[in-house]
Amino acid sequence: MDKKLRIDLQKTPKHVAIIMDGNGRWAKGKGMNRIFGHRNALTAVRESVKAASQINIAAITLYAFSTENWNRPKLEVDALMSLLISSLKKELPDFMENGVKVNAIGAIESLPKKAQKVLSDVIISTENNTNITLTFALSYGSREEIVNTIKNISKKVVNKEINIEEINENTINNHLYTFNLPDVDLMIRTSGEQRISNFLLWQMAYAELYFTDVLWPDFRETHFYDAIIDYQNRERRFGKTSEQITE
Ligand code: IPE
Ligand code: IPE
Ligand code: MG
Repeated sequence: MDKKLRIDLQKTPKHVAIIMDGNGRWAKGKGMNRIFGHRNALTAVRESVKAASQINIAAITLYAFSTENWNRPKLEVDALMSLLISSLKKELPDFMENGVKVNAIGAIESLPKKAQKVLSDVIISTENNTNITLTFALSYGSREEIVNTIKNISKKVVNKEINIEEINENTINNHLYTFNLPDVDLMIRTSGEQRISNFLLWQMAYAELYFTDVLWPDFRETHFYDAIIDYQNRERRFGKTSEQITE
């Protein structure tokens, strides 16, 4: 049976976040260098976005480069940046055809100028697309995001635009890089690692976590649907009792 038919379209997550992990190990397993792994990661990105948009998921966020990833060897960092540029250019026609609206979160100003330019071109070109929002987390770190948020809110307090007493969870939400995105419902991490690695800490407060051993370059539509089916078999209680939920 088609796996997709097992998915309840009324209960799909609104926002899926993915930690795309395992490129290096995938390449190593083939006797190749780590960059070969990154180069073979694009199919998994394509398949995940396609799968998500086919089951009415409104937002998908991909962890592509963390603040900590700047500490990798320069050769690898440079290769990742060039791949980002070439992939965005290459995928633009597909984004347009499939109604994908591209968005970015992170310290974007720390990316190479050329990457910033291509990224902003793609964001502008796709801004009226409505099928799905695809967010790339680039030079993203959740703690950096929270520090940035606190600075921006503090400035507004100093300028008397915000009253300290008025600060609530919505104030924080509205100042995060993800201000225009719903909370994460489902977080998927590939490659068998079971950690968050400084990704969307605030936004994942109540997310369901799904870990798979599949290495990112091998991740396909079918694996994405496995995660969704698993998610749909869970009971999200948000602090309530099971009886209250099923009532
Ligand atoms: C994920 O794969 C891609 C990025 C972090 C940019 P890795 O490069 O982390 O692959 P492993 O974890 O070394 O296998
Ligand atoms: C997390 O993967 C960052 C991205 C997927 C972009 P890493 O492979 O860098 O994470 P750690 O450091 O092993 O936790
Ligand atoms: Mg890794």
